[in-house]
Amino acid sequence: MTVYESLSEWRRQRADQIRAGTTLGVVPTMGALHDGHLSLVRRSRAENRLTLVTIFVNPAQFDDPGDLARYPRALTEDLALLREEGTDFVLCPSEADLYPDGYQYRVIELGLSRLLEGAHRPGHFDGVLTIVLKLLQIAGAEHAYFGEKDWQQLRLVQGLAEAFFLPTMIVPCPTVREADGLALSSRNRRLPAASRRQAPQFYRILSSASSAEAAGRELRATGFEVDYVEDRDGRRLGAVRLADVRLIDNVPLGDRS
Ligand code: PAJ
Repeated sequence: MTVYESLSEWRRQRADQIRAGTTLGVVPTMGALHDGHLSLVRRSRAENRLTLVTIFVNPAQFDDPGDLARYPRALTEDLALLREEGTDFVLCPSEADLYPDGYQYRVIELGLSRLLEGAHRPGHFDGVLTIVLKLLQIAGAEHAYFGEKDWQQLRLVQGLAEAFFLPTMIVPCPTVREADGLALSSRNRRLPAASRRQAPQFYRILSSASSAEAAGRELRATGFEVDYVEDRDGRRLGAVRLADVRLIDNVPLGDRS
C-alpha cells in the first residue's frame, strides 16, 4: 500500500496507470474508519484493478467549529485497517493543497441541498460537493463509492456527476449496521454507554412507525431530540441528537414492518 500526501505525486502515478489501461475505484472518506467505510473498499476492490482511499477531514463542510474540533482522527489505525483490506493507495492531502483558492470557488446546489441536513447545517453540502468534485478530479477513477447511510449526500453527489458530466460512475453501497441495528458511524464512539443502549431505537422507530410524523413523536417520547423525520425519494430520512451526538439514518419506505 502506498500512501501519498502530495497531489502531484499521486497524479503522476494515476497517469501511468491510465497509460497502462488500469481501472481504479476511489473511496472518499474523512477517516476514523469503521466497517461501513471498509465495505466500500471491499466493493471497490471487487470491481476495479486498483483502489484508492482518500482521507481528508474537510473543514468546509463543518458548519460548527466545535464539531470539526471534536471529529475523531485516527490515521495510524486507519492505515493499518486499509492495509489489512488490501487497499492499493491512500491519499491524505493537506488543506493548503486541496484549497489553493482558499475556498473562493465552490459548488452550490440550489434545491435538495437546502433541505433536511442542509436546513440544519447551513453550507454543509456546499462544502461536501466542492470537496467531492476536487477529489473525483484528482482521483481520475472509473468508479467512486458512496454509502446509502448518507442518502442525501449520495443523491447530491449523483446530481453533481450528472450536472458536470463527470467521467466517474457513482456507485451506491448499502448501509452497514451493528447487530442491534444502529448504523455504523464515526460519531457512535462518542455516545455514553446509556445513550449507546438507546441509540438502536432510532433505526427501529424509523423502520416501524406508520408515518414520518408518528416516527418523530415516538422518537421524542423515547428521549431523542429530533431535528427532522421526513419521507422523500422513497426513503424515510431522519436526524436526531442523543447526549449531544448527532445521528442520521434512513430506511427504504417499502421496508416498514
Ligand atoms: P465519511 O463520513 O468518512 O464517510 C465516507 C463514506 O462512507 C461515505 O460515502 C459514507 O456514506 C460511507 N459510510 C459511512 N458510514 C457508513 C455505513 N454505516 N454504511 C455504509 N457506508 C457508510 O461522507 C463523508 O465522509 C464526507 O462527506 C466525504 C464524502 C468524504 C466528503 O468529505
